[in-house]
Amino acid sequence: MPSRVFVTRAIPTVGLDIVSAAAEMEVWPGELPPPREALLAKVRGVDGLLSLLTDRVDDELLDAAGTQLRVVSNFAVGYDNIDVAACTRRGVTVGNTPGVLTETTADLAFALLMATARRLPEARDFVRDDRWQTWGPLLLLGKDIHGATLGLIGFGRIGREMARRGLGFGMRILYHDLVRADANIEAELNATWAPLETVLAESDYVSLHTVLRPETRHMIDAAAIARMKRGAILINTSRGPIVDQEALADALRSGQLFGAGLDVTDPEPLRADQPLVGLPNCLIVPHIASASERTRDRMAEKAARNLVAGLRGEPLPDPVTA
Ligand code: DGY
Repeated sequence: MPSRVFVTRAIPTVGLDIVSAAAEMEVWPGELPPPREALLAKVRGVDGLLSLLTDRVDDELLDAAGTQLRVVSNFAVGYDNIDVAACTRRGVTVGNTPGVLTETTADLAFALLMATARRLPEARDFVRDDRWQTWGPLLLLGKDIHGATLGLIGFGRIGREMARRGLGFGMRILYHDLVRADANIEAELNATWAPLETVLAESDYVSLHTVLRPETRHMIDAAAIARMKRGAILINTSRGPIVDQEALADALRSGQLFGAGLDVTDPEPLRADQPLVGLPNCLIVPHIASASERTRDRMAEKAARNLVAGLRGEPLPDPVTA
């Protein structure tokens, strides 16, 4: 009997081809995630699940799937949607897609940094709204990027690539991470480890690259924002709940922060009537940091290979452990 797998949304064909060659595959046809009840029904009896960050994989889902489930392969590097401990307890292996989206994500983080620093969304609206009368000495003044300090919270793969981009723009790089990087990496990226308070206090740009855990939820709250330099810019391409959005909105209104560039929000999607969305100094994009054609192909391939390895009982190329 061939293995059965459920794929919770259409992913690039390169991945689907690998999966369908190895198993009997069903793909959720909608553009939106399967509603919870539908997801629980679709996983019943499957041997493998290819999930997205929009699908919660927990005890309830694992119960619904049944004891034959062998592997959950997440089409993302982040896996805060998966209760990995619950999977491990049941002998279900879990995979993710690290490495292939690192540079693409850092590119978007730096794009957000540049766009908020130089007020590109406001400038675009200015022209579109036909408000452009003349060249103005005080028109749409922004912040310099070169020579500024970039503070990275989280110095894993993506944080380091962000540092490389900052270095290319002549920025001073500070970082905070629980684990200090090797001296040769610090030297290559001209990056200096500092306590969180120092990174917050000394950075003109603070960019978040940490994973969402109970300890990092609302890590950037009113108190943390108050410690930041007045007029600094916050960039978030990690996970929305790391930032207290009410505190962020207050800081953007009061001028404590000059701007914010967010690829991720809490919740997602963030509805257009939410206060942050209407603020001119807040640029929000819909969780697209890894959304380049090539990178999504590579993620699809990785997710498919993890799934197939798990179905065969082989070690996953990119396993996740609790
Ligand atoms: C991830 O992979 O975790 C991103 O958030 C989406 O690519």
